[in-house]
Amino acid sequence: MKVAVVGTGYVGLVTAVCFARIGIKVAAVDKDPNKIQALRAGKSPIYEPGIEDLLRSGIEEGRLTFHTQLAEALENARVVFICVGTPQSQDGHANLDYVFQVASEIGECISLKPRYKDSLIVATKSTVPVGTAANIKKIIEDHLISKAVSSSFEVVSNPEFLKEGDAINDFMNPDRVVIGCHSKETEGVMHKLYGPILNNNDAAWFCMKPESSELTKYASNAMLATRISFINEIANLSEKVGANIDDVKKAVGADKRIGQSFLNPGPGFGGSCFPKDVSALLTLGDRAGEDLKVIRATLQTNQYQKKILLKKISRLFSIDPSDTTQPLADRRITVWGLAFKANTDDVRESISLDLVRDLVRLGAEVVAHDYIAIDNFRTIMSQEAILITYDSDPIKASMNSDLLVIVTEWADYKKIDLEKVGSIMKYKQIIDARNLFSPYELIRSGWMYDSIGRPKDKDKDK
Ligand code: UDX
Repeated sequence: MKVAVVGTGYVGLVTAVCFARIGIKVAAVDKDPNKIQALRAGKSPIYEPGIEDLLRSGIEEGRLTFHTQLAEALENARVVFICVGTPQSQDGHANLDYVFQVASEIGECISLKPRYKDSLIVATKSTVPVGTAANIKKIIEDHLISKAVSSSFEVVSNPEFLKEGDAINDFMNPDRVVIGCHSKETEGVMHKLYGPILNNNDAAWFCMKPESSELTKYASNAMLATRISFINEIANLSEKVGANIDDVKKAVGADKRIGQSFLNPGPGFGGSCFPKDVSALLTLGDRAGEDLKVIRATLQTNQYQKKILLKKISRLFSIDPSDTTQPLADRRITVWGLAFKANTDDVRESISLDLVRDLVRLGAEVVAHDYIAIDNFRTIMSQEAILITYDSDPIKASMNSDLLVIVTEWADYKKIDLEKVGSIMKYKQIIDARNLFSPYELIRSGWMYDSIGRPKDKDKDK
């Protein structure tokens, strides 16, 4: 079987290299000729552990090709995956311009070269609002150039559930594969396509109406985002009432109905999916006349949490965060972690973006470190004419600092000798938004150490 993949961003590229890996012929297409050129040379435009190995082996073994023309990629393809972006519009809903553009091109291509044997399956992996499969179908029909040509196709929904930094593993070892389609034959083709992945692990297979499949994606992300907002609220409360969120979350998560994952408190959720998809779900509710109160609260709580670091810093230096007289002018603050989470160079909706903007507005001198996201961060800061210093060495970045703020949970930060860091800082002060270190150990060794939802005293270490 051969498939085409439209869009070589995060979702498209992972889909393409993984299908090639399991023996499928894949033709990936992107409008950007530079990207295609780099991909043909085995260079991935995105950082994702393991992706370049799969990219190169797919090319070398002749299963993976890259194109700038959709018509070329569609030749003999049984399934085409739409994997283009659905950015957030001003009013919160998902902007479907790219998806609909691809749909209209598919319509044109399949009518230019009619398929006599098998119909084309058009599968949407992009996260799209409920009802989009039906709209894509209509757009393709409207763009069939000659009505006399028989070009049969079916539109299906096949959402992705890929975490950045672990996307290859998520694709190869999914908890479930979800297909939204109307025909048994199409379900059979999709099942065959995913066969090797399904056979290798306990992945569940769900086939349902396209509307249900589209909603499943939003509901999944909203559920995860809600867990995070929930645990962040309980963490904030823990601080106020003298509880320790480490103990609370473990004991709460031990209930099998609740589970341990996605219960890590932090500085709020970011990234390219949760903020956008939760907003889009809210808009979907508004349009459908259903007020989604829990989802609204999830976003509101996250807005609040995204300012938690600023609040803690303001308290530490006894300043008012809305002060316009640059009250942090004599402070040097080191920020560890610019990516929205560990194992990615993605800074979209990263908490550090807002934090650094606030710190610079308040007059602080900021020195920032990240293992791989500095370039992406610097691009955004330069566009906004925000000047900060970057250091590729986390220890050197803390030189003469009044405060170290840890924003991203890079595992390597935990291995750093904090005594060394403390010896070169102006003051031994850390605000750790990812709870990487033990409060008791640090406080005992003379640090001012604050984290999320944990005690600030040195007495108890159970
Ligand atoms: C998410 C979904 O997990 C994935 O299934 C979907 O397809 C795309 O969106 P991603 O955005 O890559 O993936 O990252 P994820 O690991 O889910 O983290 C999202 C945000 O939540 C990050 O800011 C992360 O730091 C935060 N988070 C996650 C927490 O604050 N606490 C947690 O316990 C988990």
